[in-house]
Amino acid sequence: MRTQPKKGLAVLLAVLVGSVGAAAPAYAGGAGPTPGSAGLGDRLYPLLGNGGYDVQNYDLHVTYPEKDPKQTVTGDVTITALATQNLSRFNLDFGGDSVGVVRVNGDRAEFTRQGDELVITPRRHLPKGQRFRVRVSGYTATPIEANASSPAGFVTTTDGTFMAGQPDQSHNYFPSNDHPSDMATYTIALTAPVGWLAVANGTHVSDKRDHGYVTSTYREAKPLASELIQAAVGDFVLQKRPPVNGIAIRDVVPRRLADDLLPKAEVERSQLTWMIDKVGKYPFENYGSLVVDTRLGFALETQTISLYDTSLFARPKYILDPIMLHELSHMWFGDSVAPSEWSSVWQSEGHATWYELEYAEETGVFQQYTRTPNREAYFKQVYAEGDQLRKDYGPVARPLKADVIWDVFNPNVYDGGALVLYALRQKVGERDFQRIEREWVKLNRGKSVDTHDFVNLASAVSGKNLRPFLNDWLYGTTTPPMPGHPDWTVDPAEAAAAPAAATARHR
Ligand code: TRP
Ligand code: ZN
Repeated sequence: MRTQPKKGLAVLLAVLVGSVGAAAPAYAGGAGPTPGSAGLGDRLYPLLGNGGYDVQNYDLHVTYPEKDPKQTVTGDVTITALATQNLSRFNLDFGGDSVGVVRVNGDRAEFTRQGDELVITPRRHLPKGQRFRVRVSGYTATPIEANASSPAGFVTTTDGTFMAGQPDQSHNYFPSNDHPSDMATYTIALTAPVGWLAVANGTHVSDKRDHGYVTSTYREAKPLASELIQAAVGDFVLQKRPPVNGIAIRDVVPRRLADDLLPKAEVERSQLTWMIDKVGKYPFENYGSLVVDTRLGFALETQTISLYDTSLFARPKYILDPIMLHELSHMWFGDSVAPSEWSSVWQSEGHATWYELEYAEETGVFQQYTRTPNREAYFKQVYAEGDQLRKDYGPVARPLKADVIWDVFNPNVYDGGALVLYALRQKVGERDFQRIEREWVKLNRGKSVDTHDFVNLASAVSGKNLRPFLNDWLYGTTTPPMPGHPDWTVDPAEAAAAPAAATARHR
C-alpha cells in the first residue's frame, strides 16, 4: 500500500462481479489498458517492484515437506492489490524455481518468466482504481548457502532456513512487488513436519496439526516492506520473555545452541525501554531475536524479529549489545518508516548507527567498541574522512552504484549518515533534534518516505529552512563545514589510506 485510501468491501465485490460478465468495464479516465512497467525505476535497482498496481495484502503459505534444510519448498501466495492504471498485464518479481498456476480474480491467467520478472496477462484487463486478486499457486523455491559473494536471500543452515531478503532477495522466496515503496500487510502460514518450529513476522495466530504436519500462521497487521520478511523454519526453539510496555517478546534460536544463545538476547528487553524513551512508542506488537548458525557478516532488521548470526553472538557483549540496539532501532527507522527509494537507505542506516553509538556511549562501552573515547571524537574522525568516503561510495543520499550489496550498504551510508544527523543536531540543538526524530517516526509510521521528506520535516519542526544545509550534507561531493566545530578539518581525498572509523566497528 502506498498512501491511497483503503477501499471497502463494496469495491472488492464490484471487481468480483465485474469479472463475471463479458461487458467491457468502463475506463476510469479514458486511457486504454496498457502493461504495467517491469520496474519502479529505482535509481539503484531499476527492476525491483513493478508499475501499475499497489499491493494491500499478501496471504502467503509455504510448505516444507521434510525435515531437510536444503529442500525445495512449495508456495501459494494471494495478493490483494489496487490497480493504479488500466492494466492489460502486469508483473510480479519472482526468482524462484518454478511457477504452478496463476489466477487473477479467480480466472486462470497466462504468464511468462523473463529473468526475475513474472509477466501476468489477465483474461480481462484490470480497471484503474479497482482492487484485484492475484494468486500464484504451486510455485517452488530452493534455499541457497550463505557465502561471501551472495550473503543474502532464502538461506539454508544446519538447523533450517531463514530469510535475509534485503535489499533485492525476497522475491527469490515468494512472488511479490519487491520494493520498499510498496508496503503491505501479511498473513504468513508455514507448514512443516511436527517437531520443527516455524516463525514469521508479526503475531502468532494459530498452530494447526494435520497428518504429521503443523501449519503455523502469523499476522503482520502493520505495513511491512517485502525486504524485511522473515520465515524461519527448522529445528529451532522459541523462548518467550516477559513483555516490555505491553510488547510481547520471543527469541528463536537453534535448539542445539539454545543454552548458549538465549541468555545473550535478554538485553533486548532493556534496550526496548531505552529506545522507547529516546524516540517514542514502539511501532509493532512484538519483538525478539532470531539467531542462525552461519556466517552472514551482517545482522538484519527483519520486522518484529531481528536476525543475527552465531559469529556475531560469539563476540563480546560490548560489540553484540550495540549491534542489537542498532537492529532494534531499525524497527522505527527502516521498518515502520521505510525508504521509498534505495538511495535513501542512509535514513535507515544513519539513524540506526546514531542510536547504536549513543547507546554504546550511555552504557559505557564506547571506547572498547569504537576505539575512540566518545561520540564527539568518533564523529571528528568520520568527518576527517568525509571527502574520501564521498569519493569512494558517493554522497550520503546517493550511493554510486549497486553492483554488489556493499556498494549500497556502504560506510558512508552508516557513518556518513550518522554524521549528517550529528551535523543536524549541532545546527538545531539537542531539543529540536529530538523533536525532529520523534516527529519523523510518528508522522510516517507505516509509510515509505525519502530523503526529501526528512529534509522538509526537519525544516518544519525546527522552523528553519534547513534545505540548503541538509542538501549539501546529503548530496554534496565534498564535506560541508561542521557547525560548532570550526576547527574540524577534512583530510584530502586520496591522502589517507582506507577510511578507518567505519571499518573498525561493525562486522
Ligand atoms: N541492514 C543491515 C543492518 O545494518 C545490514 C544488511 C542487511 C546488509 N543485509 C545486508 C549488508 C546484506 C550487506 C549485505 O542492520
Ligand atoms: Zn542497519
